[in-house]
Amino acid sequence: MQTRRSGIVSVGRFLPPNVVTNFDLEEMGIDTSDDWIRTRTGIHERRIVTNGLRQSDLSLHASREALMRVGWSPDDLDLIIVATVTPDHIFPASANTLAAKLGAVGVGSFDLVNACSGFIYGIFQASAAIESGRANRVLVVGSEIMSSILDWEDRATCVLFGDGAAAVCLEAVEEPYGFRDFILGSDGRYGDLLYMPGGGSAMPASNDSIDRRQHFIKMNGGEVFKFAVKKMKEVSEELLERAGITPEDIGVFIPHQANIRIIDACTKRLGLKKHQVVTNIHKYGNTTSATIPTAIYEAEAEGRINKGDWILLVTFGAGLTWGGTLMQWAVDKLPSGTSFMSDDAAYDSYSSSLRPGQDFNRL
Ligand code: ACO
Repeated sequence: MQTRRSGIVSVGRFLPPNVVTNFDLEEMGIDTSDDWIRTRTGIHERRIVTNGLRQSDLSLHASREALMRVGWSPDDLDLIIVATVTPDHIFPASANTLAAKLGAVGVGSFDLVNACSGFIYGIFQASAAIESGRANRVLVVGSEIMSSILDWEDRATCVLFGDGAAAVCLEAVEEPYGFRDFILGSDGRYGDLLYMPGGGSAMPASNDSIDRRQHFIKMNGGEVFKFAVKKMKEVSEELLERAGITPEDIGVFIPHQANIRIIDACTKRLGLKKHQVVTNIHKYGNTTSATIPTAIYEAEAEGRINKGDWILLVTFGAGLTWGGTLMQWAVDKLPSGTSFMSDDAAYDSYSSSLRPGQDFNRL
């Protein structure tokens, strides 16, 4: 039984500074064009890591910003969940590494592997922990280095994805604010529509698996496209119906950012207006578990999300999986975010408040 409400009370994000445009991909010799990518996907550019930045580093920068904006220290956390399909290593969990880098020693932490649905599943888990009274303050991160699993010889997939991370802080909030409802689902019969064949116990790395390029994303784009439009509409309609509200009541609709045509088809079918829909796929491509929290960050920063507004989040992804949540935004405008890559003073002052020894990459 639900005893209290939970909600998002802060958000941070980190995008690697290296911008790779569609023209850059053309110049890299990929058999594609800016025109094809823009018109078929809506993507203009994406971020790709350089300088040895790891997935746990992207998580760290996003998490620090989220913690700083709500005034929490890493010690205040009861749980850290990192949604990712590109962890630093299969194990230990990247969430363990993030906890150490943050200085949150002793805090429970785990990775959640559910591709583009990972963030929604993560906040479901976090809200359940808070609402049951088992945790008070939880950090949920969506963080990916998708470029590490892209086949740059497969133009049908490599142009679609990008690297990035965003983090949210959750705690108990007063009704009527916070999460109203969640829907999660999966249908594993369609696992081979989008997957990475190699690297797991079914196909450990071997010379043969590497020669056959099995350690990269494989996708049947057309089938995933049809599924995405259908499922995101169904989930959205069910959430609205269960809450007794209509599309006009929605402040912002934040769908998973995989293809602008999927987003447009879905919003049209739901009868939503353009001003209600948040998109950032043109800037970052599909960052898998990071698309939705990154879009939350930007919509909040732009003043498009205000306390009490209805926010509808909906996703789909490999699995196949899907999920959505409906919430009323629980907090007043957050203090302005800080991009740690561009604001050294803010970064230094925050990082000096953390315990020493947490910026390490020993593994
Ligand atoms: N540049 C130029 N041409 C290309 C490219 C490219 N990058 N990629 C494919 N093409 C060609 C194809 O070879 C094909 O050529 P042909 O007609 O000569 O055979 C033509 O373009 C059309 O290809 P389609 O696959 O039919 O193109 P479509 O319009 O379906 O778009 C796309 C493909 C963008 C992949 C689309 O299907 C899609 O976005 N699907 C959903 C993918 C998705 O959402 N994935 C993420 C899921 S979330 C997760 O869990 C990670």
